[in-house]
Amino acid sequence: MEKFNQKIILVIYHSQGGTVKKLAETFVQGASKIENIQIIFKPAKDVLLEDLLCCQGIAIGSPEYFGYMAGLIKDFFDRTYEKAEQITIGLPYMIFVCAGNDGRGAITQIERIVKGYHWKKVYEHFRVVGVPREEDFAHVEEMGQTLAAGVEAGIY
Ligand SMILES: Cc1cc2nc3c(=O)[nH]c(=O)nc-3n(C[C@H](O)[C@H](O)[C@H](O)COP(=O)(O)O)c2cc1C
Repeated sequence: MEKFNQKIILVIYHSQGGTVKKLAETFVQGASKIENIQIIFKPAKDVLLEDLLCCQGIAIGSPEYFGYMAGLIKDFFDRTYEKAEQITIGLPYMIFVCAGNDGRGAITQIERIVKGYHWKKVYEHFRVVGVPREEDFAHVEEMGQTLAAGVEAGIY
């Protein structure tokens, strides 16, 4: 059961082939090391406006498809922007992207949209090119732990 006043981080992702899902699961593993944090972990298509409005930190994981973020990540932004933009100002966020050979398009476009929400970048965006290696998983795990620890401590 959710504890009174427990802080929440929202981890959303899209993954057609399973790679970003694995990275997102690893992010959650890292976040889970911090006590007193509730994690909402969902594919972007299932994320509700309420999930966004109740969280104190968000991580977004996307593949790059056709030089852009996954369509269902864009759909999440389309569905939430009007209701959330005034309420989530300053929300700490992190991005991780996995791509076959680039990934910069996805990152740039997510960042561009996030500017409209006025969220706060709290970690360098992470881009994996090709099949993620052990050190990439370690990095994403560290990102998760960092976001959860920062939110828990209220340092953002
Ligand atoms: C339809 C489609 C479009 C893609 N477009 C790009 C692209 O524009 N740039 C790139 O670097 N990789 C591209 N890729 C490769 C994926 O970004 C990469 O395989 C990624 O790891 C897929 O993540 P997933 O397994 O979680 O779906 C594309 C893959 C697919 C299926």
